[in-house]
Amino acid sequence: MSRLTRAVRVIIKDISLRIGRNRQLFSLYPYMFSPAQLIFLTDCIKSVSDVPGNFVEVGCAYGATTVFLNKFMNDNKDLAGRNYYAIDTFRSFVAEHADYEIQNRGKPPSIKKRFKENKKAWFDRSMAVHGVKRVKSIECDATQFDLSSLAPIAFCLIDLDLYIPVKDLLPKVFSAMSPGGIIIVDDCQPDQMWDGALQAYQEFTRQRGIPAEIVLEKLGVVRLP
Ligand SMILES: C[S@@+](CC[C@H](N)C(=O)[O-])C[C@H]1O[C@@H](n2cnc3c(N)ncnc32)[C@H](O)[C@@H]1O
Repeated sequence: MSRLTRAVRVIIKDISLRIGRNRQLFSLYPYMFSPAQLIFLTDCIKSVSDVPGNFVEVGCAYGATTVFLNKFMNDNKDLAGRNYYAIDTFRSFVAEHADYEIQNRGKPPSIKKRFKENKKAWFDRSMAVHGVKRVKSIECDATQFDLSSLAPIAFCLIDLDLYIPVKDLLPKVFSAMSPGGIIIVDDCQPDQMWDGALQAYQEFTRQRGIPAEIVLEKLGVVRLP
Protein backbone atom coordinates (compact mmCIF):
# COMPACT_ATOMS: atom_id res chain seq x y z
CA MET A 1 0.00 0.00 0.00
CA SER A 2 1.43 3.39 -0.97
CA ARG A 3 1.95 6.15 1.62
CA LEU A 4 -0.80 8.19 -0.02
CA THR A 5 -3.31 5.30 0.09
CA ARG A 6 -2.41 4.67 3.73
CA ALA A 7 -2.86 8.34 4.59
CA VAL A 8 -6.25 8.49 2.79
CA ARG A 9 -7.41 5.36 4.65
CA VAL A 10 -6.41 6.82 7.99
CA ILE A 11 -8.26 10.07 7.26
CA ILE A 12 -11.41 8.27 6.05
CA LYS A 13 -11.45 5.94 9.10
CA ASP A 14 -10.91 8.79 11.55
CA ILE A 15 -13.60 10.97 9.97
CA SER A 16 -16.13 8.15 9.86
CA LEU A 17 -15.34 7.24 13.47
CA ARG A 18 -16.32 10.80 14.44
CA ILE A 19 -19.48 11.03 12.34
CA GLY A 20 -20.74 7.50 13.11
CA ARG A 21 -22.32 5.31 10.37
CA ASN A 22 -19.06 3.38 10.12
CA ARG A 23 -20.12 -0.18 10.78
CA GLN A 24 -18.97 -1.53 7.43
CA LEU A 25 -15.67 0.29 7.49
CA PHE A 26 -14.72 -1.24 10.85
CA SER A 27 -16.16 -4.70 10.26
CA LEU A 28 -13.60 -7.50 10.40
CA TYR A 29 -16.10 -10.21 9.47
CA PRO A 30 -17.13 -10.16 5.79
CA TYR A 31 -19.12 -13.41 5.95
CA MET A 32 -22.87 -13.88 5.69
CA PHE A 33 -22.46 -17.22 7.49
CA SER A 34 -21.66 -17.81 11.16
CA PRO A 35 -18.44 -19.68 12.02
CA ALA A 36 -20.46 -22.88 12.62
CA GLN A 37 -22.13 -22.51 9.23
CA LEU A 38 -18.78 -21.95 7.48
CA ILE A 39 -17.38 -25.04 9.22
CA PHE A 40 -20.45 -26.98 8.08
CA LEU A 41 -19.76 -25.88 4.49
CA THR A 42 -16.16 -27.11 4.76
CA ASP A 43 -17.48 -30.41 6.16
CA CYS A 44 -19.78 -30.67 3.13
CA ILE A 45 -17.00 -30.13 0.61
CA LYS A 46 -14.72 -32.53 2.49
CA SER A 47 -17.46 -35.14 2.44
CA VAL A 48 -17.64 -35.02 -1.37
CA SER A 49 -13.90 -35.44 -1.88
CA ASP A 50 -14.59 -38.87 -3.45
CA VAL A 51 -17.50 -37.62 -5.56
CA PRO A 52 -16.46 -36.60 -9.06
CA GLY A 53 -17.47 -33.18 -10.30
CA ASN A 54 -17.14 -29.42 -10.10
CA PHE A 55 -17.86 -27.13 -7.17
CA VAL A 56 -20.31 -24.32 -7.92
CA GLU A 57 -21.48 -21.27 -5.97
CA VAL A 58 -24.56 -19.65 -7.49
CA GLY A 59 -24.72 -16.16 -6.00
CA CYS A 60 -21.17 -15.40 -4.89
CA ALA A 61 -21.50 -11.61 -4.33
CA TYR A 62 -18.15 -10.10 -3.31
CA GLY A 63 -16.46 -13.47 -2.85
CA ALA A 64 -15.98 -13.72 0.92
CA THR A 65 -17.25 -17.31 1.15
CA THR A 66 -15.58 -18.14 -2.16
CA VAL A 67 -12.20 -17.11 -0.72
CA PHE A 68 -12.82 -18.95 2.56
CA LEU A 69 -13.79 -22.23 0.88
CA ASN A 70 -11.02 -22.01 -1.69
CA LYS A 71 -8.36 -21.36 0.92
CA PHE A 72 -9.68 -24.43 2.71
CA MET A 73 -9.46 -26.35 -0.58
CA ASN A 74 -5.88 -25.14 -1.12
CA ASP A 75 -4.94 -26.70 2.22
CA ASN A 76 -6.58 -30.06 1.40
CA LYS A 77 -4.82 -32.10 -1.23
CA ASP A 78 -7.99 -34.13 -1.93
CA LEU A 79 -9.81 -30.93 -2.90
CA ALA A 80 -7.06 -28.79 -4.40
CA GLY A 81 -7.55 -30.09 -7.95
CA ARG A 82 -11.26 -29.24 -8.22
CA ASN A 83 -12.75 -26.59 -10.47
CA TYR A 84 -14.81 -23.94 -8.67
CA TYR A 85 -17.32 -21.87 -10.63
CA ALA A 86 -18.78 -18.70 -9.12
CA ILE A 87 -21.90 -17.28 -10.74
CA ASP A 88 -23.44 -13.87 -10.14
CA THR A 89 -24.95 -10.91 -11.98
CA PHE A 90 -22.37 -8.87 -10.01
CA ARG A 91 -25.01 -6.11 -10.01
CA SER A 92 -27.70 -7.29 -7.59
CA PHE A 93 -30.97 -9.08 -8.23
CA VAL A 94 -32.72 -9.42 -11.57
CA ALA A 95 -35.42 -6.70 -11.52
CA GLU A 96 -38.39 -9.04 -12.14
CA HIS A 97 -37.23 -11.40 -9.38
CA ALA A 98 -36.99 -8.55 -6.86
CA ASP A 99 -40.35 -7.11 -8.04
CA TYR A 100 -41.97 -10.47 -7.35
CA GLU A 101 -40.73 -10.34 -3.73
CA ILE A 102 -42.02 -6.77 -3.34
CA GLN A 103 -45.40 -7.33 -4.99
CA ASN A 104 -46.20 -10.87 -3.86
CA ARG A 105 -44.10 -11.61 -0.78
CA GLY A 106 -44.34 -8.35 1.18
CA LYS A 107 -40.68 -7.39 0.95
CA PRO A 108 -39.58 -3.73 0.99
CA PRO A 109 -38.47 -1.96 -2.24
CA SER A 110 -35.06 -1.44 -0.56
CA ILE A 111 -34.11 -5.05 -1.40
CA LYS A 112 -33.30 -3.72 -4.87
CA LYS A 113 -30.38 -1.77 -3.42
CA ARG A 114 -28.64 -4.83 -1.97
CA PHE A 115 -25.46 -6.17 -3.62
CA LYS A 116 -25.54 -3.35 -6.20
CA GLU A 117 -22.03 -2.03 -5.65
CA ASN A 118 -20.16 -4.91 -7.18
CA LYS A 119 -18.27 -5.77 -10.35
CA LYS A 120 -16.95 -9.02 -11.77
CA ALA A 121 -13.54 -7.33 -12.09
CA TRP A 122 -13.60 -6.58 -8.34
CA PHE A 123 -14.53 -10.16 -7.53
CA ASP A 124 -11.72 -11.47 -9.77
CA ARG A 125 -9.24 -9.09 -8.14
CA SER A 126 -10.28 -10.31 -4.68
CA MET A 127 -9.56 -13.89 -5.78
CA ALA A 128 -6.14 -12.84 -7.08
CA VAL A 129 -5.32 -10.88 -3.90
CA HIS A 130 -5.95 -14.04 -1.88
CA GLY A 131 -3.99 -16.31 -4.21
CA VAL A 132 -7.13 -18.18 -5.25
CA LYS A 133 -6.48 -19.36 -8.79
CA ARG A 134 -9.03 -22.06 -9.50
CA VAL A 135 -12.18 -19.89 -9.37
CA LYS A 136 -13.81 -19.08 -12.69
CA SER A 137 -16.35 -16.28 -12.35
CA ILE A 138 -19.38 -16.20 -14.64
CA GLU A 139 -21.39 -13.00 -14.99
CA CYS A 140 -25.01 -13.73 -15.88
CA ASP A 141 -28.55 -14.13 -14.67
CA ALA A 142 -28.22 -17.63 -13.24
CA THR A 143 -31.75 -18.52 -14.38
CA GLN A 144 -30.60 -17.99 -17.99
CA PHE A 145 -27.37 -19.96 -17.62
CA ASP A 146 -26.99 -23.51 -18.91
CA LEU A 147 -26.11 -25.33 -15.67
CA SER A 148 -25.68 -28.60 -17.55
CA SER A 149 -22.49 -27.10 -19.04
CA LEU A 150 -20.93 -27.39 -15.54
CA ALA A 151 -22.04 -31.00 -15.01
CA PRO A 152 -21.14 -33.15 -13.23
CA ILE A 153 -21.36 -31.07 -10.05
CA ALA A 154 -20.23 -32.52 -6.71
CA PHE A 155 -21.04 -29.53 -4.47
CA CYS A 156 -23.28 -26.55 -5.10
CA LEU A 157 -24.05 -23.62 -2.83
CA ILE A 158 -27.20 -21.82 -4.00
CA ASP A 159 -27.17 -18.39 -2.38
CA LEU A 160 -29.62 -16.29 -4.40
CA ASP A 161 -31.91 -15.06 -1.61
CA LEU A 162 -35.15 -14.75 -3.61
CA TYR A 163 -37.98 -17.15 -4.41
CA ILE A 164 -37.91 -17.07 -8.23
CA PRO A 165 -34.21 -17.78 -8.87
CA VAL A 166 -33.95 -20.45 -6.16
CA LYS A 167 -37.15 -22.12 -7.44
CA ASP A 168 -35.72 -22.05 -10.98
CA LEU A 169 -32.21 -23.23 -10.09
CA LEU A 170 -32.90 -26.11 -7.72
CA PRO A 171 -34.18 -28.62 -10.31
CA LYS A 172 -31.51 -27.57 -12.83
CA VAL A 173 -28.71 -27.99 -10.31
CA PHE A 174 -30.23 -31.26 -9.08
CA SER A 175 -30.11 -32.78 -12.57
CA ALA A 176 -26.50 -31.67 -13.05
CA MET A 177 -25.31 -33.29 -9.78
CA SER A 178 -23.16 -36.41 -9.39
CA PRO A 179 -24.59 -39.23 -7.29
CA GLY A 180 -23.44 -38.59 -3.71
CA GLY A 181 -23.17 -34.83 -4.28
CA ILE A 182 -24.51 -32.12 -1.95
CA ILE A 183 -26.56 -29.00 -2.61
CA ILE A 184 -26.83 -26.30 0.08
CA VAL A 185 -29.51 -23.62 -0.19
CA ASP A 186 -28.80 -20.61 2.00
CA ASP A 187 -31.46 -18.59 3.84
CA CYS A 188 -33.88 -21.43 4.53
CA GLN A 189 -35.20 -19.62 7.57
CA PRO A 190 -38.79 -18.42 8.12
CA ASP A 191 -39.94 -14.84 8.62
CA GLN A 192 -36.91 -12.98 7.40
CA MET A 193 -36.03 -10.87 4.39
CA TRP A 194 -34.79 -13.75 2.24
CA ASP A 195 -37.36 -16.41 3.15
CA GLY A 196 -38.21 -16.86 -0.55
CA ALA A 197 -35.28 -19.30 -0.52
CA LEU A 198 -37.04 -21.33 2.20
CA GLN A 199 -40.32 -21.41 0.24
CA ALA A 200 -38.53 -22.61 -2.91
CA TYR A 201 -36.54 -25.23 -0.92
CA GLN A 202 -39.66 -26.55 0.81
CA GLU A 203 -41.61 -26.78 -2.46
CA PHE A 204 -38.73 -28.59 -4.15
CA THR A 205 -38.19 -31.17 -1.41
CA ARG A 206 -41.95 -31.76 -1.06
CA GLN A 207 -42.47 -32.22 -4.82
CA ARG A 208 -39.52 -34.62 -5.08
CA GLY A 209 -40.31 -36.53 -1.90
CA ILE A 210 -36.90 -35.60 -0.47
CA PRO A 211 -36.72 -35.16 3.32
CA ALA A 212 -36.23 -31.48 4.21
CA GLU A 213 -33.01 -31.05 6.23
CA ILE A 214 -32.31 -27.56 7.50
CA VAL A 215 -29.18 -27.29 9.62
CA LEU A 216 -27.72 -24.48 11.72
CA GLU A 217 -30.87 -22.38 11.37
CA LYS A 218 -30.73 -21.61 7.67
CA LEU A 219 -28.83 -24.09 5.51
CA GLY A 220 -31.17 -26.25 3.43
CA VAL A 221 -29.44 -29.49 2.48
CA VAL A 222 -30.19 -31.75 -0.50
CA ARG A 223 -28.14 -34.95 -0.53
CA LEU A 224 -28.03 -36.81 -3.80
CA PRO A 225 -28.46 -40.56 -3.35
C1 LIG B 1 -26.37 -13.26 -0.36
S1 LIG B 1 -25.48 -12.81 -1.78
C2 LIG B 1 -24.34 -14.13 -1.97
C3 LIG B 1 -23.35 -14.21 -0.84
C4 LIG B 1 -22.17 -15.11 -1.08
N1 LIG B 1 -22.53 -16.46 -1.40
C5 LIG B 1 -21.32 -15.12 0.18
O1 LIG B 1 -21.45 -16.06 0.96
O2 LIG B 1 -20.56 -14.16 0.39
C6 LIG B 1 -26.63 -13.06 -3.07
C7 LIG B 1 -26.06 -12.81 -4.46
O3 LIG B 1 -26.95 -13.41 -5.41
C8 LIG B 1 -26.85 -12.68 -6.60
N2 LIG B 1 -28.02 -13.01 -7.43
C9 LIG B 1 -29.31 -12.93 -7.08
N3 LIG B 1 -30.11 -13.32 -8.10
C10 LIG B 1 -29.27 -13.69 -9.11
C11 LIG B 1 -29.47 -14.22 -10.41
N4 LIG B 1 -30.69 -14.44 -10.91
N5 LIG B 1 -28.39 -14.52 -11.16
C12 LIG B 1 -27.13 -14.31 -10.68
N6 LIG B 1 -26.88 -13.80 -9.45
C13 LIG B 1 -27.93 -13.49 -8.67
C14 LIG B 1 -26.82 -11.23 -6.13
O4 LIG B 1 -26.26 -10.40 -7.11
C15 LIG B 1 -25.96 -11.33 -4.85
O5 LIG B 1 -24.63 -11.00 -5.14
